[in-house]
Amino acid sequence: MLASVCPAAGETWELREVRTPVPGPGEVLIRVHASGLCSNDVSLTNGTFPYPPIDPTIVGHEPAGEVVEVGAGVAARKVGDRVGATWIQGGCGSCDHCRLNLPVTGITGMNCDSPAMTGLTRTGGHAEYLVVPASSTVLLPEALPYEMAAPLLCAGYTSWSALRAADPRPHERVAVVGIGGLGHLAVQFSKACGFETVAVTRTPDKHELARELGADHVVSSGEALARIGGADVVVVTATSYEAATECLAGLRINGRMVLATIDPSGSFTIDASRQFFARGQSILGATHNGLPYLVEALDLAAHGAVTPQVEVFPKEKIAEAVDRVTAGKVRFRAVVTY
Ligand SMILES: NC(=O)c1ccc[n+]([C@@H]2O[C@H](COP(=O)([O-])OP(=O)(O)OC[C@H]3O[C@@H](n4cnc5c(N)ncnc54)[C@H](OP(=O)(O)O)[C@@H]3O)[C@@H](O)[C@H]2O)c1
Ligand SMILES: [Zn+2]
Ligand SMILES: [Zn+2]
Repeated sequence: MLASVCPAAGETWELREVRTPVPGPGEVLIRVHASGLCSNDVSLTNGTFPYPPIDPTIVGHEPAGEVVEVGAGVAARKVGDRVGATWIQGGCGSCDHCRLNLPVTGITGMNCDSPAMTGLTRTGGHAEYLVVPASSTVLLPEALPYEMAAPLLCAGYTSWSALRAADPRPHERVAVVGIGGLGHLAVQFSKACGFETVAVTRTPDKHELARELGADHVVSSGEALARIGGADVVVVTATSYEAATECLAGLRINGRMVLATIDPSGSFTIDASRQFFARGQSILGATHNGLPYLVEALDLAAHGAVTPQVEVFPKEKIAEAVDRVTAGKVRFRAVVTY
């Protein structure tokens, strides 16, 4: 099969012929049709994050496609099913974290001693074919094309989980910080739920686009958010903890800030002058919060309540797609077709 392979940390991804995987017991073989390019895929291969221990290095955790073969014992999926696969396949089952027997979520992926994760510890989805446990797939709504489903499998899953983690109430105002892959969906999710929504973006040319996504207000910093009255929920999907820290200025009394950000070098700080203890505020971490949340996000997209904005690249243009993600030029998710 053809796959997008990163030869080594910092090198350019290239399309290569590699061995087509074979599904084992409990697994399915997916013919990938569309594969979203998460910023984490780029961070894993350009040296920002630790290089993934997979050979050949095929990352990707937003693959959408069709089941073409099922392994022994698979009853819940059949050939022809339209599916999406996700980042977390499962935990090891026996480490201290797994002994808690919590539901399988992003928390499992980041806390298990030896997790199975698509495009991180197992071969990922930027390829013509992918093998994953059937249990880590979801059935895609018929109304949702593969190119639209792919961004929901991480960007949408994460941003919907983050919004839900804040438990916004009907009268509250929601701000989304960082209008990229996750953020452009978070704005739409918030509007779809009826919340007055603020987009916080450092990028001038995104102001108009953010309004088209449904933002009622667009500002360029936490200080500017404070000037328009702040927000009860601040969902941070920007890549920087410094940006999150600055946005504390716009968090209302009893507000919740949800950090979806993964920033390997920055720090989130609460300054003494903020008197955090007397504001009733909460800071929450958020990641993929279980497949029922992903199904909700897919359902909202299938009904047209949210529409991923994608730039579609054929697999032959994988290097160009990675370059545009690296440069922050994509509006708003790059999706590669295989
Ligand atoms: N928690 C999870 O499970 C999970 C899952 C996936 C991704 N993530 C994390 O979520 C974040 C967003 O991912 P993504 O795929 O949406 O990335 P993305 O498409 O690159 O969007 C990130 C946005 O962050 C803003 N940004 C970029 N550089 C910045 C800087 N130096 N300071 C402040 N803001 C900056 C930009 O928004 P503006 O131009 O609007 O300012 C950019 O569009 C990343 O940190 C990623 O690691 C977490
Ligand atoms: Zn991702
Ligand atoms: Zn474990």
